[in-house]
Amino acid sequence: MKHLVVGLGYVGLANLAFLSSNSKDEVVGYDKDEKRINDLKHDDYYLEEAKLNETLYNEKRRIVYTSSINAFKDVGAFYIAVGTPSKEDGAVDMACFYEVIKDIKEHANHDAYVVIRSTVEIGTGDKVNALLNKDGKYHFNVISLPEFLSESSAYEDEMNPARFVIGVDDEDALTFIKRIRKKSLNDGVPFYSMSHVSAEMSKYASNAFLATKISFINEMSRLAESLGGDIVDISNGMGADPRIGHSMLNAGVGFGGSCFPKDTKALIYKGKENDIEMAINEATLMVNITQPLLFLKKIEKHLSGVKDKKIAILGLAYKEGTGDNRSSPSLYLAESLLKDGAILSAYDPSKTSRESFKKGFSSINVCPSLDEAVKGVDAVVFLSSSKEFKEIGETRLLKLMKGRYVFDGRNIFSTEHFKYCSYISIGRKDSLR
Ligand code: UDX
Repeated sequence: MKHLVVGLGYVGLANLAFLSSNSKDEVVGYDKDEKRINDLKHDDYYLEEAKLNETLYNEKRRIVYTSSINAFKDVGAFYIAVGTPSKEDGAVDMACFYEVIKDIKEHANHDAYVVIRSTVEIGTGDKVNALLNKDGKYHFNVISLPEFLSESSAYEDEMNPARFVIGVDDEDALTFIKRIRKKSLNDGVPFYSMSHVSAEMSKYASNAFLATKISFINEMSRLAESLGGDIVDISNGMGADPRIGHSMLNAGVGFGGSCFPKDTKALIYKGKENDIEMAINEATLMVNITQPLLFLKKIEKHLSGVKDKKIAILGLAYKEGTGDNRSSPSLYLAESLLKDGAILSAYDPSKTSRESFKKGFSSINVCPSLDEAVKGVDAVVFLSSSKEFKEIGETRLLKLMKGRYVFDGRNIFSTEHFKYCSYISIGRKDSLR
């Protein structure tokens, strides 16, 4: 069988690497972006995903990369993994997705499975089924197979998912997924088959729930801070209950990335369309929007205003281990600090992140090293929990910085870590020196 993966971002590439390393079938990766295809053909992998890139490299003789629409011929299974960004009003932008559906309709030349991996507007699976199978020569068996990948572990998550949520119309579709995911089936990973709508909603509900967990702990951090509690202790105390769990309970400057903000907005939008108040999702989003704002106020308060103050922003990507700046708290903070007259330097361990940040902020001195960014500043602001940041010693900071203020937007240090610097974090007592 020929498998064609359409859209080679995190999801598409992880899917492609999985198919290639787990079957003997023909595997083709298609993307409209010719530069991306050319880079992939020359082992130039643009994502900072070590395991994924290693697998793609090892599989390079088996995978065909192309931008040619001829790739849509003779396909037995299409996997759609194109981007579905947010529109201004929160609705899901499905334009690229439906272009692919049109291409399948026009160019496919026999029956095929159409596996939806993109996070699509709820109702899409049924719509696609109707569109593709209306007065056509061929039959397309549509399968909704949402992905649950985190950036920085895209391949690992694709290989070893906690569960499969599968929207199907018939037994044949389920059998197909079980066949290509035989290893997971044998390993006892649960397969939940359901309607397309339920599968699509499972994806949104999972992300919105995780985002809500983060906003919940962030809301608690505000109260802890004013009552003299310590949110890290509180989070540990809560997370030890297996019904709650420790993950997604780290208070901080808020969630970013391409999924949580977009997916909570999409649910709110769907609620509005259907006259259903999405009060929890609204609150999740609101806490997340105001969290960096409150952090900014603390910076302003402790520095007695930021006008002409030299500040280093450390951590530009939305989280450690990725080069992705989408919806990163760093964007909001940089913009606000600049507006208030601060003189900014910036650094992220990821070169991709630094370069994309530089494009958005020409007046910020984006540095190639941590030391350069920190040199001579009045304050440092940590916005991600990169290993490089965790390992920075106070002696090194003291040697480089002019001032003595450390603002920690991810609670990466203990409140006793700094002996000579004032340390201000989230949901904990300030340690002022
Ligand atoms: C997320 C989901 O985890 C994944 O299942 C889904 O498929 C896509 O969205 P990702 O966006 O890669 O993955 O990152 P994740 O590690 O979940 O973090 C998202 C954001 O939340 C980051 O900005 C992170 O810093 C923040 N976060 C995470 C917290 O503020 N506190 C936490 O406890 C965890």
